[in-house]
Amino acid sequence: MNSLSEKDTQNIWHPFTQLEGGAQPLLIEQAEGIYLHTSDGRKIIDAISSWWVNLHGHSHPVIADAVAQQARKLEHVIFAGFTHEPAITLSENLLSILPKSFCKIFYSDNGSTAVEVALKMAMQYWHNQGVPRKTIIALEGSYHGDTFGAMAVGDRSIFTAPFAPFLFDVKFIPFPTTQNLEQVINHFKTLVNSTDAAAFIYEPLIQAAGGMRMYPAEILNELIDLAQQNDIICIADEVFTGFGRTGKIFASDHLTLKPDLVALSKGLTGGTLPLGVTAVSEKILTAFRNNDFTKTFFHGHSFTGNPLACAAANASFKLLLDDDCQKRIKEIAEQHRTFAGKIREQKAVHEVRTLGTIIAIELKTREKTSYSNSIREKIYSYFLERNILLRPLGNTFYIVAPYCITSVQLTGVYQAIETFLEMLTE
Ligand SMILES: Cc1ncc(COP(=O)(O)O)c(C=O)c1O
Repeated sequence: MNSLSEKDTQNIWHPFTQLEGGAQPLLIEQAEGIYLHTSDGRKIIDAISSWWVNLHGHSHPVIADAVAQQARKLEHVIFAGFTHEPAITLSENLLSILPKSFCKIFYSDNGSTAVEVALKMAMQYWHNQGVPRKTIIALEGSYHGDTFGAMAVGDRSIFTAPFAPFLFDVKFIPFPTTQNLEQVINHFKTLVNSTDAAAFIYEPLIQAAGGMRMYPAEILNELIDLAQQNDIICIADEVFTGFGRTGKIFASDHLTLKPDLVALSKGLTGGTLPLGVTAVSEKILTAFRNNDFTKTFFHGHSFTGNPLACAAANASFKLLLDDDCQKRIKEIAEQHRTFAGKIREQKAVHEVRTLGTIIAIELKTREKTSYSNSIREKIYSYFLERNILLRPLGNTFYIVAPYCITSVQLTGVYQAIETFLEMLTE
């Protein structure tokens, strides 16, 4: 009989993983708090919250109980023509923290589908009114997911190259920096002034997979303002930034101007079960509130509104709004800022960026700053050998830890980073 790891290699095709030549995946038997326990007795700090999904620590007993109780009552039911309490409660919970203009929640399965739904709603908003607006505007360097619509509005990169001929046309504006601001605004103005412009999609304040690149709220406010003056639908992709990551519940809470659609996932269930949400403002609904069958939003997934996922999300929601969690978010942000100041001048460091509970360290490198930068593998294995999971984006690595990480545990990760930076300098 093969070992489990051998069976894995034989049977499973893992995401973002080369089929040949890669390391064997680590077999995780159990996880608790910030730790992943491997089958051979290692205890690894999950400093990236397992692709940014985990908020309160692994196998959180409150979320586990909520899911278990729900599983005994109602595990799933078709969500067209039927409904259930966990989905209704979650919609109330989410609408209570979203801007007042938001009044409906559409469920799907993950971040990509939450984005797909937002894009389709924006497109159909114009279609239902008989207005031929078709152009979508996005930012260079953005990542919105791996399904076709989400890929189309993302940066053209090694991720999307094989599919380039199949992606619909999108107008990209340069990523805004202090140097190119005027150029970005002018470019954006020409796009939004075109009669064809339908929607503007953005990752508010930080491009996550694009390298944890941050840009200020004032610039985004200006872009949203220009878009909304021209009646263009603004879609905030808060799949990564939602639920406290940036220090506020949503990154959009740092802005004065609000989007028309918001995509959510990742931290939504505290990282326990897959669930996507597209939150919808009244403006969008006006194009769908009618008796014309052909104007229905014909979109749904088999597992739309899954009760177990909704129960997990409701439990996570309570934990998130608890004073202890909110205090911890502030403390992590403060600790990150102090650490950033400490390592900013290190020789190996090109830039340190922090935003709320996120800290990103971009290393100096002779190669271009990119996802395929060869230092990526060195960073990953260095920290993993020391039982810390950090998964770099090329020459940028970051900490996005569960909020339950203690100050001492975080200091331990910082110390490992300092030693690594010193080693690079030597
Ligand atoms: C901003 C953003 N949008 C969408 C997605 C896609 O989410 P999912 O992987 O759940 O499909 C991601 C994933 O990293 C993301 O960071």
